[in-house]
Amino acid sequence: MMRDPQPRPPAGAAPSNNRPSFPAPGPQTANVLFPFVDLKAQFSSIHDEIMAAVTRVLESQQFILGAEVAAFEDEMAASLKTMHAVACASGTSALELALAALGVGAGDEVITTPYTFVATAGAVAQVHAKPVFVDIDPETFNLNPDGIEPALTERTRAIIPVHLFGQAADLGPILEIAEEHHLAVIEDAAQAIGALYRDAPLGSLGTMGCFSFFPSKNLGGAGDGGMVTTNDAGLAERLRLMHVHGSRRKYHYEILGRNSRLDALQAAVLRAKLPHLARWTSGRRQVAARYRELFREYRLEGQVKLPAELKDRTHVYNQFVIRCPQRDELRNYLSARGLPTEIYYPVPLHLQPAFAYLDNPKLPHAEAASRETLALPIYPELADTHVRATVSAIADFCTGQ
Ligand SMILES: Cc1ncc(COP(=O)(O)O)c(C=O)c1O
Repeated sequence: MMRDPQPRPPAGAAPSNNRPSFPAPGPQTANVLFPFVDLKAQFSSIHDEIMAAVTRVLESQQFILGAEVAAFEDEMAASLKTMHAVACASGTSALELALAALGVGAGDEVITTPYTFVATAGAVAQVHAKPVFVDIDPETFNLNPDGIEPALTERTRAIIPVHLFGQAADLGPILEIAEEHHLAVIEDAAQAIGALYRDAPLGSLGTMGCFSFFPSKNLGGAGDGGMVTTNDAGLAERLRLMHVHGSRRKYHYEILGRNSRLDALQAAVLRAKLPHLARWTSGRRQVAARYRELFREYRLEGQVKLPAELKDRTHVYNQFVIRCPQRDELRNYLSARGLPTEIYYPVPLHLQPAFAYLDNPKLPHAEAASRETLALPIYPELADTHVRATVSAIADFCTGQ
């Protein structure tokens, strides 16, 4: 007997399955009044430019490296004021390439923050070095420079500060310590493209800077992508070799490398978006200012802690993260009213099973941040009514309504 043919989606329909995807489809987004991240709003505002860029690559049939990727690298280097920019497959890969280009490997230690996305410390482990976690400054959530010197050993090779949520880590003292102890500084600027520290773009101050073009980043691609920036010509050369199998000439391998290239399609999409980045950043900053205004209007400053914006830095608000001791109750309250929020990060890395093999100390500020922080929606297209609805619901929660 013939079995029924498998039902197929109509031609052109998006395939569906139960695998993870971003943004998450289905029930998580079904009941919310508006999305936590709205990629469609941005896309519709530049639809024709993106389609022209994608078409240009398709018509060229030049998908790997080539002029599109080279032009994007040059444009990024100019915008970030660095001598060199090497595009690669993801922000995670950018960190791994940066460490490998420095020769960091087995037996080496790298100091970093436990309060970050897994890739920061994961990259250290992937090159067979040891991540050494140092606690954060509870005001900024960034690596506290005071914790670095006590954590140094003879094996320390590098420091990876993360410019978390879009604001620079305290690079001044970090760079001083690094210089004194001959350590490299790899800036994890995945969340902070365009942010400044004392007027200098992030990614231009350390030995290298690592960026991510994950779709939800301030400059997001149509998929994965990343970049390493540096002012060191020798490191740039190594990065270039390493991201294409260690090969300058086809089938000749000077060093052991990997395949970590940015697709030409991604480069074209990102080139179309780059000229809009300054405007989008100012849109994010305006939403942040609006949140602050409304939190003042509702007299919530004593009950909810707003993100610190430090004077010598320009915050680009990849996230707007507040702090509240009843964070989980607040999140449930908002969620029941259709108001989306996120938690970055619910478990700091030193408490994750994946890093349990390390001899991790207690890091109380990171642990408290993981219990108390809540990210509110922030993107340039976010409607003022949604910003007000969020703050007004937080006010209701705080006054027990
Ligand atoms: C701080 C930080 N580092 C590294 C990464 C890794 O970037 P990607 O997702 O492009 O691999 C991310 C991305 O979420 C990040 O937020």
